[in-house]
Amino acid sequence: MSDFYKKILDNNKEWVEQQLAVDENYFKDLSKGQNPPLLWIGCSDSRVPANEIIGAKPGEVFVHRNIANLVVHTDINMLSVLDYAVNALKVKHVIVCGHYGCGGVKAAMGNQSIGIIDNWIRNIKDVYRVNKDELNEIADEDKKFNRMVELNVIEQVFNLAKTSIVQNAWNINQELHLHGWVYGLNSGYVTDLNVNFSNNDDLDSMFKLNF
Ligand code: CO
Repeated sequence: MSDFYKKILDNNKEWVEQQLAVDENYFKDLSKGQNPPLLWIGCSDSRVPANEIIGAKPGEVFVHRNIANLVVHTDINMLSVLDYAVNALKVKHVIVCGHYGCGGVKAAMGNQSIGIIDNWIRNIKDVYRVNKDELNEIADEDKKFNRMVELNVIEQVFNLAKTSIVQNAWNINQELHLHGWVYGLNSGYVTDLNVNFSNNDDLDSMFKLNF
């Protein structure tokens, strides 16, 4: 067994002991159920751990992560997480959290084929398509990259708002707020992009569903 593999199994035992030292009923209580107020849709990047960033304990945040924190309407995995979060857990907030320096967004801005992931990343190129006037005005490559990361988050929040799951919740007056954040890898701080939805009002009428 490799040292690393042994180490992570040992880490688990140590972690259990630490939790139990603080509260002997810790796992017993958690096993009774979950009632998280928040769904987090973030990037798979190992440097953007959902719970740690917002100081959430186990049980406090329902999490879905994929490359470049995308909300793709044919992604049955994401839709299943969203459906369960909204309709079973009744979360009140959904946060799409991107991050500066995102490799997925960087790849989308380039032309190199890197395999099957090209097809996933192609979704991000749509963010360029709908924002190219603004992006083409930015000469500095780093600034353009940062703005592309932000615009990707904004687009994914709009995509969330357009799902039948979210619109149905609003239709029955269920409290549900959508937000978009960007995490700074080099600072630890998140920036709220102020792209907030709590109802259908800000969607173009073509995207509004009647139930
Ligand atoms: Co990323």
